[in-house]
Amino acid sequence: FTVKLDDGEISKGTYPFFMLKEIDEQPIVMHRLVDAYTDDEGQVSIDSDLLAAMKRADRLYIVAAGTSYHAGLVGQALFEKLAKVPAEAYLASEFGYHQPLLSERPFFIFLTQSGETADIRQVLVKIKAQGFPSLTVTNVGSSTLAREADYQLLLHAGPEIAVASTKAYTAQIAAEALLAKALGEVKAIPEAAQFDVVHQLGLASTAQQALIEQKDLIHQWATDLFATTRNAFYIGRGTDYYVSLEASLKLKEISYVQAEGFAAGELKHGTIALIEKDTPLVAFISDPETAAHTRSNADEIAARGAKVLRIVTQAQAQDEDQIVIPDIDPLLAPLLSIIPAQLLAYYTSFDRGYDVDRPRNLAKSVTVE
Ligand code: G6P
Repeated sequence: FTVKLDDGEISKGTYPFFMLKEIDEQPIVMHRLVDAYTDDEGQVSIDSDLLAAMKRADRLYIVAAGTSYHAGLVGQALFEKLAKVPAEAYLASEFGYHQPLLSERPFFIFLTQSGETADIRQVLVKIKAQGFPSLTVTNVGSSTLAREADYQLLLHAGPEIAVASTKAYTAQIAAEALLAKALGEVKAIPEAAQFDVVHQLGLASTAQQALIEQKDLIHQWATDLFATTRNAFYIGRGTDYYVSLEASLKLKEISYVQAEGFAAGELKHGTIALIEKDTPLVAFISDPETAAHTRSNADEIAARGAKVLRIVTQAQAQDEDQIVIPDIDPLLAPLLSIIPAQLLAYYTSFDRGYDVDRPRNLAKSVTVE
């Protein structure tokens, strides 16, 4: 296979690192996905055979690793709300050897930027042998997983060079939203009809751009919070919790700060014991149903002397909140709240003088189990 690359896409240009360039590309990737998966009338248009196969399923199994797994967690909510089908994300490395009891008509979705992750491929091989249908959602159309699954959807994110994944994460969430909308429509689910995914992804793109333009402010927060710290915590509930997991992975993989993402309500069941004076904690607050609870969890941490940074949607924002993100359908809030978190991780690594794009001990695609 030869992969044709656009020169502009594989050069860093004036950027010090690919990661910063790839963060900046996210707004345009939203538009590329909308272009790729809508017809001339602006209606979502996805392979009808794929939708028919998914419609037959009584449960979606989303299998992935690392950042892609975190995008899969957000996918659970999208498929359940818009297509009314039970959906669960699994770590490929666990699923491969501890296959859960499957439903009668499972459908497998493999989320993988590279399409080459060995942990995921071994699951694909096993479920194919059992005769189950599968889709690979990937950034690399010529990859092994794209070729071996029954169906494929491309992420159109362009080559992702930095080891820490950024634009593939948001592209995966946007692709899941488009797919969930299309599936919900073929199933005549009212929530899908009401969810204007094209409009929402347009809003997401504009809002991402606005957040990226606040780089300097976010750099200052990175300095205040993480310049010398050895650990950090991220909290949220629902999809905000899933963003916490991805935000903490970004920080640990490139800045070597021990970072953990927690379900905000679980803090009091153990983790709060770790909070000391000046421990950095980032709270994501976008989910209207639980905003007040997460805010009170954050206040409790602040009262113990922690440095708390709140990343909050406009609708939930209060005067004390430091980073306010534009409003969007709550299902898609991760497309926005992850942007400041990616930038926090980037600047922390950059300021510590690390090779942001090539962190120690990590590979871009892991082809061994
Ligand atoms: C590696 C990379 C991660 C990535 C994971 C899954 O561990 O370092 O950034 O999230 O693999 O990769 P995939 O290509 O399957 O999405």
